[in-house]
Amino acid sequence: MKLLAIETSCDDTAIALVEIKENKKSTSFKILGNEVSSQIELHREFGGVYPSLAKREHTKNLPLVLEKVLKEAKIKMEKVNAIAVTIGPGLEPALWTGITFAEELNKKYTIPIIPTNHMEGHIFSIFPQKGKKNFNVKKDNQMLPILSLLVSGGHTELVLIKSWDKYKKIGQTRDDAVGEAFDKVARMLGLPYPGGPEISKLTEEERKKISKNKLSKLITLPRPMKYSNDYDFSFSGLKTAVLYTIRDLKKLTDRTKRQIAKEFEDAAIEVLIYKTIKAIKEYKVKNLIVGGGVSANKYLQKVMEKEIKKNKLKVKVNFPTKSLTGDNALMIAVAGYFQYKNNKFVKSYKSLKLKANGNLSL
Ligand code: KG4
Ligand code: ZN
Repeated sequence: MKLLAIETSCDDTAIALVEIKENKKSTSFKILGNEVSSQIELHREFGGVYPSLAKREHTKNLPLVLEKVLKEAKIKMEKVNAIAVTIGPGLEPALWTGITFAEELNKKYTIPIIPTNHMEGHIFSIFPQKGKKNFNVKKDNQMLPILSLLVSGGHTELVLIKSWDKYKKIGQTRDDAVGEAFDKVARMLGLPYPGGPEISKLTEEERKKISKNKLSKLITLPRPMKYSNDYDFSFSGLKTAVLYTIRDLKKLTDRTKRQIAKEFEDAAIEVLIYKTIKAIKEYKVKNLIVGGGVSANKYLQKVMEKEIKKNKLKVKVNFPTKSLTGDNALMIAVAGYFQYKNNKFVKSYKSLKLKANGNLSL
């Protein structure tokens, strides 16, 4: 079957078209078209995503992105068998644009709609491989239990998967998401939006300098909730600690900026990894899936592998390929297809009364 996926939960207008075949042991996906139109440049001047602007841009971009994808795939809309669309979580005005667009396509071509969860998409984002048009997904029970660390601009959560399609959130942030904290700290340091990659760049420079010159550590920040008796997180206090550090410094020089960025990244990642390792041990996890925008962080990837080795854990670590760490529609296609297989779809949007849900949980 041919499945079209639409993702508009935040500031990326994304559409993918895949061809899916069921084999004896696995499901094979062929990417026919995959496009992401980013609005970063527009939102940059606001220092974050501006929902009504995102809505306007999605509405404008969706038909253009669809046209591009269909052209790339050399396929007409009539040949598409199902449409997966993100219904949440995310920014509701943005989500609505994707839903309305899917409804219009349903009306025009009578193609069934699969309401899809954005976070489930991030979990499935580890399957497509770098530079390859074909990939297989095997929902193998040998992989279970799986632990998923989902880290993005809106979410920070640990999800336990003991059986496929059943998700148990064992911990989450009590305030800011980790990506949000990266973005806010970057803003305090005068860096552009989105802050995650900017902080990453600065810290890489700083880490090189430290290993060369053995500079002493001048700035220390807290590791909030590291030793709390649960799997929850908190990043708002860390962000405030950065604010006070900047206030107490007489001048923010390039050097202090680099040091703050590095200490912030150290602190945030230390807590994420500490709790992830603790959960891997407690639940005897066989696979770790890290997903969401912050999973692009190289330091997180490096230290996660290192700590897993150090703790002698027999767990396979799965990060998405770089282009799929952030929001994309390919992950929605994969997650959506399995919903379809479980009969979770509707022939007409009218019978489902599709609704955006900004806080939709797994
Ligand atoms: O998943 P995503 O693209 O959108 C949401 O669903 O939120 O995640 C975006 C977040 C932003 O906060 C961005 O700053 C962060 O991911 N991010 C990073 C890195 N690249 C993107 N955070 C830390 N290090 C990075 N290299
Ligand atoms: Zn996301």
